[in-house]
Amino acid sequence: MSEKSLSHTKWMKRAIFLASLGKNTTSPNPRVGAVILDKNGSLISEGFHFKAGMPHAEAMAFNNLKNDAKGGTMYVNLEPCCHQGKTPPCVDKVISSGLKKVYISMEDPDERVSGKGIKLLKEAGIQVNLGLCKKESLDLNKAFIHRNTTKKAFGVLKWAMSIDGRIALKNGKSKWITNDESRSLVHSFRAEFDAIIIGGNTLRRDNPFLTTRGSKNPEPLRVVFTKSLDLPSKSNLWDCSKAKTLVIYDSSTANESYLSRIPKCVEVEKVLSDNPELISKILAKRGCNKVLWECGPNLATAAIQSNCIQEIITFIAPKILGGENSMHPFGDFEFEEMHEVIKLSNSQVSLIGNDICVKSLCKN
Ligand SMILES: NC(=O)c1ccc[n+]([C@@H]2O[C@H](COP(=O)([O-])OP(=O)(O)OC[C@H]3O[C@@H](n4cnc5c(N)ncnc54)[C@H](OP(=O)(O)O)[C@@H]3O)[C@@H](O)[C@H]2O)c1
Ligand SMILES: [Zn+2]
Repeated sequence: MSEKSLSHTKWMKRAIFLASLGKNTTSPNPRVGAVILDKNGSLISEGFHFKAGMPHAEAMAFNNLKNDAKGGTMYVNLEPCCHQGKTPPCVDKVISSGLKKVYISMEDPDERVSGKGIKLLKEAGIQVNLGLCKKESLDLNKAFIHRNTTKKAFGVLKWAMSIDGRIALKNGKSKWITNDESRSLVHSFRAEFDAIIIGGNTLRRDNPFLTTRGSKNPEPLRVVFTKSLDLPSKSNLWDCSKAKTLVIYDSSTANESYLSRIPKCVEVEKVLSDNPELISKILAKRGCNKVLWECGPNLATAAIQSNCIQEIITFIAPKILGGENSMHPFGDFEFEEMHEVIKLSNSQVSLIGNDICVKSLCKN
């Protein structure tokens, strides 16, 4: 690689790093960072998108300019927008600034933009270079891209189990399988998500809080999926002062008289089937890019079968629960042959005290 292209890579990596500062806060928007060099190649500004409604990365970079941008170069990890959203289009700002070149890592998958922003820049005589550090940019915005291309939220399934692969005793008790460190790690990593999903049975048995314990404000939306609506009138999820809760129920099977047990501060939405894909679509429509499924075996199996899970995180504790009837992470997938089983890829393993954490991609 020539010295010149090395420095282009360096600046795009800087833009990607800036974009990553919005990691937990930009949904439903993408993570975007921008760097501006003057005509002599000196850094004159940079910016990143922090939150929907706040300036886009390019706009923030123009707001922070220390010098004239005329004849200069911009590095940005996503195609500049060309539509009027909560803020004005960035393409107009880039054109009026007099920049000569723009390096863009990838096209915006949002159909209001996808290629149109680049076209406008080129028509204005700006040199556009597309594709620098594309792999890193795709990875940074994989949840946003997934939502825009599939209209479903990017799903991560997480569970904790013993070394013999059990998630609860046969009486349903599961507090606690993993160590304190793993559990507090789960609280903080929930901050990466826009919503956390469980089924009605986990709510009845575990009465969880499903919060980040304050590391994200506002907290992710807590979602309960129920076929029966047979939910208790007292539950930690009904305390809306900590986080919002949404109950989604299948009206083809639910007893709607149970609705009276749910307090008014909790939002309720009905669907006409028990297909978890509906949850994923509803949450995507609400702008959730990335959602965490913290459910038990029945909903987890259905979520995998309906393609709602793109990543898996397993915490494995060095404990033995034993027993044929203690609970497994999944129900039966009805596989008959080994080539049918779900194969995970790109596994990363880390040690958390004595617990093991395995993260893998799930393509089924
Ligand atoms: N160790 C761990 O990481 C972990 C994590 C989560 C849960 N657990 C344990 O798992 C147990 C609960 O397991 P579970 O499988 O019953 O969990 P769940 O998370 O409650 O999911 C099952 C429930 O989801 C609802 N549901 C809606 N659509 C469904 C569909 N298509 N398929 C299946 N269920 C659907 C039903 O609620 P309704 O019954 O209300 O209709 C159903 O009972 C508890 O003992 C809990 O401690 C362990
Ligand atoms: Zn923009």
